[in-house]
Amino acid sequence: MRKPIIAGNWKMFKTLDESVAFVKELAPQLAPFSSVERVVCPTYIALAAVADVLKDTEIGVGAQSLHWEEQGAYTSQISPTMLVGLAQYVIIGHSECRAYLNETDETVNKKVKAALAHGLKPIIAVGESLAQNEAGETETFVSGQVRAALDGIDATSMENIVMAYEPIWAIGTGKNASGEIANTIISKIRATLADLYGKDVADSVRIQYGGSVKPGNMAEYMSQPDIDGALVGGASLKVDDFTKLIEIAAAEKGA
Ligand code: PGA
Repeated sequence: MRKPIIAGNWKMFKTLDESVAFVKELAPQLAPFSSVERVVCPTYIALAAVADVLKDTEIGVGAQSLHWEEQGAYTSQISPTMLVGLAQYVIIGHSECRAYLNETDETVNKKVKAALAHGLKPIIAVGESLAQNEAGETETFVSGQVRAALDGIDATSMENIVMAYEPIWAIGTGKNASGEIANTIISKIRATLADLYGKDVADSVRIQYGGSVKPGNMAEYMSQPDIDGALVGGASLKVDDFTKLIEIAAAEKGA
């Protein structure tokens, strides 16, 4: 059985002090829900302090990206070795990085390999634009992104990878894909994984939905058979909302 995983992507929100205060308040709220894997992804600058607050809890920490080199002349970047010990997860291929920071299928693949090589678990985000969606290209495009991200990754590594389907048109827009549509695309992603690695591996990989997930629509996603959790932006920035999401995931999916 796949353990549900809910990750909060804080994007460029919260100062260091706000981040620390937030997780101090959040941690006891999330403590009871051990049937759900709970992860927060603060900004780089808050990562060490947040990791310190959460060190004796079951709440995991994720980075929002990384560079694939271990060190070097890459102004502004953070390497996998710098994340080890602070984060267990790392989001790779978020559509905002693809849109604004020159993230490509090729850099996603390099980052996935670098993360795995350093024991970090990638949360690989894929998803189509509104134009692609309206042109009926979603499945082909998303499947291509999955194949490109996983190029050269072996089956045994898949236990350390989480996939996230995030239609770009649903991120931060308040528009969300219906549970049924999200489940259909996610089942296609699983079919792509089955094609690459066989059915057993595909059935064991957790695939999240992301895009305007909030307490009011969470149950719709979590009641779908192929959706194993959520990658959450806006609603992860409030203690009550994020706690509610975890509570709903535990009720719908928890063992
Ligand atoms: P949102 O963001 O929940 O604010 O739509 C999701 C994401 O970008 O991961």
